[in-house]
Amino acid sequence: MKKDFTYYSDPQRIQRAVKTLASFTEADRPFTRLVFSPEFKQARQWLEFEFRKAGLDCHVDKGGNLIGLRQAADDASEQKKVIIGSHIDTVSAGGQFDGVAGIVAALEVIHFLNQQNISLPFSIEIVDFLGEELNVWGLSCLGSRHMAGLLTDEMLSRTDQEGRQLGLEIESIGGKRQPPRKPRQDADKIVACLELHIEQADRLETNQTDIGVVTDIPGISRYAIKVMGRAGHSGTTRMPDRQDALVAASEVITTAQDTGIAIAEQDNKHFVATIGRIDVYPNGAATVPGEVNMVLDLRASHEHSRDEFLKQLQTRCMLISKNRSCKIEMELISNASVAVMDNELRQRLSHAANSLNLSHIDLSSGAGHDMVHLSRIAPAAMVFIPCKDGLSHCPEELATPEAIAKGSAVLARTILALASNEPYNE
Ligand code: GLV
Ligand code: MN
Ligand code: MN
Repeated sequence: MKKDFTYYSDPQRIQRAVKTLASFTEADRPFTRLVFSPEFKQARQWLEFEFRKAGLDCHVDKGGNLIGLRQAADDASEQKKVIIGSHIDTVSAGGQFDGVAGIVAALEVIHFLNQQNISLPFSIEIVDFLGEELNVWGLSCLGSRHMAGLLTDEMLSRTDQEGRQLGLEIESIGGKRQPPRKPRQDADKIVACLELHIEQADRLETNQTDIGVVTDIPGISRYAIKVMGRAGHSGTTRMPDRQDALVAASEVITTAQDTGIAIAEQDNKHFVATIGRIDVYPNGAATVPGEVNMVLDLRASHEHSRDEFLKQLQTRCMLISKNRSCKIEMELISNASVAVMDNELRQRLSHAANSLNLSHIDLSSGAGHDMVHLSRIAPAAMVFIPCKDGLSHCPEELATPEAIAKGSAVLARTILALASNEPYNE
């Protein structure tokens, strides 16, 4: 008889793990587990304990990633590695499943292999990638960037508004403050990097499909935008004399929105532009705003859309600057080009879904993921599972334990197929 997904994965155990991780949150702002926060560190401790219980050897690498290692069958095969990972940090007031689903699913694969007493011709690393979410240093995917050798001196020496230096924070959880300069030294031994993630959109749900096999992940560029005007008394600074940085910033925001809409329509490709973070100085109700700092987040499946957007935004910013007597500066703070997922791994994931009688479609990701950076150094691929109404980065985010179990079973089947070098062509 053909085995279904429950042979590989246990929805009840999944539910318990998700619930426990959800309990590590800021109490008055669920679900908030920001990287380096006390809640994050407590969740890491719990996870390390779970890794050890599952028989994994644990360590934190130089990039601050928590790694649980399952040894290969023998020394000769020790050379080859498979990585399965995701992240347990959240955005502020985020959800219970973004990242967590992938970590819990990876652990399920280990439980399955242990229960069935299966030795593999490669070792497996379960990785909790450090700080996948965009943080106060203007960076996402800290751990995977480090693994790929892409975390620079400049990035590590950034400080936040409270003077906390990124490199020192990484050191505080067991990593190193030095930049990696090159990808991890055994990168050529990694045969596959896999990540399960909630879709964060509603295509799977709408099509009543169990599994999404990710084709590509859009390029992400982020810019710090600084608008400098002149602070002054709100009661005495006459309207024509004002250099109100917030008024100029609001024009930049609406221009980014309108230009984004026009470019996406004109190129007919995935392109989105967001200004979701804004800091106003001095932020007093009786003071004309003197300075505004914002972060512009751009996601594009084609670089042409991003370049055209930036050209148009910069032209408009020159006008806004002149009309509002404010200076506007834009500085690139992170950049990642489009990441294409590995073709063989994609086919293997589809094949595994078929063998489990699970429906599947190919789709491209809207969000960014750690596999963007891993794909630069090794074959990488992702499995998406449906989430309710496509909601994510909010407390309403929901994926069922069964949906996670199905995705986890696809990972387990793929691992077995890689081990036996099973043919994968449909
Ligand atoms: C990760 O959540 C992202 O910002 O895409
Ligand atoms: Mn995520
Ligand atoms: Mn996220």
